[in-house]
Amino acid sequence: MVPELSVNAQDGAVPDSLVVVSNREPYSHERGDDGEIRVQSAAGGLTSALDPVMQSRGGTWVAWGSGDADMAVATDGVVEVPPSDPAYDLKRVPLSEAAVEGYYYGYANQVLWPLCHEDTGRIWAEPAYWDQYRAVNEQFAEAVDAVADAGQPVWFQDYHLALAPRLLRDRRPDATLLQFWHIPWPAPSVFGHCPHSDALLDGMLACDVIGFHTAAYAEQFLHCVDSAFPAATVDTDSGTVARGGDRTRAVANPLGIDVEGVRDRARDAGVASIRDTVLGGSRSDTSIPIALGVERLDYSKGIPERIEALAHLWDRRPDLRGAFTYVQKASRTREGIAAYRRYRADVLDAVERVNDRFGTDDWQPIVYTEATLDNETLAGLYRAAEVAVVTPHRDGMNLVAHEYPVACIDGDGALVLSELAGAATHLDGALTVNPHDIAAIADAIEAALELDPKEASDRLARLTDSVESFDSSGWVARQFSAGQSP
Ligand code: F6P
Repeated sequence: MVPELSVNAQDGAVPDSLVVVSNREPYSHERGDDGEIRVQSAAGGLTSALDPVMQSRGGTWVAWGSGDADMAVATDGVVEVPPSDPAYDLKRVPLSEAAVEGYYYGYANQVLWPLCHEDTGRIWAEPAYWDQYRAVNEQFAEAVDAVADAGQPVWFQDYHLALAPRLLRDRRPDATLLQFWHIPWPAPSVFGHCPHSDALLDGMLACDVIGFHTAAYAEQFLHCVDSAFPAATVDTDSGTVARGGDRTRAVANPLGIDVEGVRDRARDAGVASIRDTVLGGSRSDTSIPIALGVERLDYSKGIPERIEALAHLWDRRPDLRGAFTYVQKASRTREGIAAYRRYRADVLDAVERVNDRFGTDDWQPIVYTEATLDNETLAGLYRAAEVAVVTPHRDGMNLVAHEYPVACIDGDGALVLSELAGAATHLDGALTVNPHDIAAIADAIEAALELDPKEASDRLARLTDSVESFDSSGWVARQFSAGQSP
């Protein structure tokens, strides 16, 4: 079994200056209707973990320049960020409309995303997708080659950039290259569905270190390498591959969150007013217990099953009607892809059906919102919720499952968690469920609402402890320490 890296990795392993490469940029420049250019910072685990490190160490972040005013404010594609207090360079890679269509909406999100989430029926691999994916990876490799100093390690992020490490290695044989794969890695039998499986593995094996959230993903990756390249020497105990001139280490390195940041925001949030705002329109008593779901409208997230589970619960336990409200905070995403548009329509239909069936003049069973919430409001919403329900079919890690327990600073809060989320490997204290088992999800929500207080506080303490041991700053240190240890 691939060993998990020590949680005590030291900051000393992190280089003084580095190059990070990702699809999404940490800051974008957008032109408003008034013609003014405004800076937006990206949300999400990747940016929250890497932006502080880049700010303290310096270097260059290379990413797709997706903002409509990005290039106007840059010189040779480079802008210093954060704009308010510059600490590192952001090198923007401009992508044509055809490139975005084929590389991002096409190959990354209609081949690799469903493949890695083991949803092979959704794979759609048009020839142009692969051509654009290769061309954009080449563009990224060129951009990195133009900005990286000799000796600066280069850290690629995620499934958008599987080929770029090889393309850069060809130009820079001696560079230290790392990658982190933020989504699951599938079983070899599933990976075999990919028409370009060998080329993807070859691209990644140009790295010295490849990180995955769990030991199981790292091990599945190694099994894929073993079956694709019989001449390679693959050792699953040490996590190493030797193939031609490549020496690659696959490691398990769970991504975490900025624990103190979430806790501080939860402390500062106006919980009562957040409750009133979220529940006000539902005509409910706003002190009613809340069960909460927070996700992008992605078909891997299991939202329809959860809504069906709520209906099942309110059907089986009429006394729970009016006893709690389920709040679904949803974010629209990847709507250039028909499957995502259909998914949103299905979720909206399901919410409406359940509200029509069980709603009364005084109680709206499900409150659905697509409002953009700032981080403080989100932390306040976590704190306000008695239960969080996180039930993806598959999920690389899932950081909502990390954020929720640490935001529960009043000492109450229970987490219902899919056993197929990476977070289930590390978090102790959740009520775990099979995300396809509608009756089991209903039972778990019921149990979470009715936990004995002693058990509830014990579970929350265990959850908080396990989240704390995987803080995001440790994640960066672990990835670099893996390049140093045998
Ligand atoms: O979880 C994988 C991931 O790529 C994250 O890194 C990112 O935050 C999320 O999906 C959102 O994806 P997108 O960049 O396609 O909006």
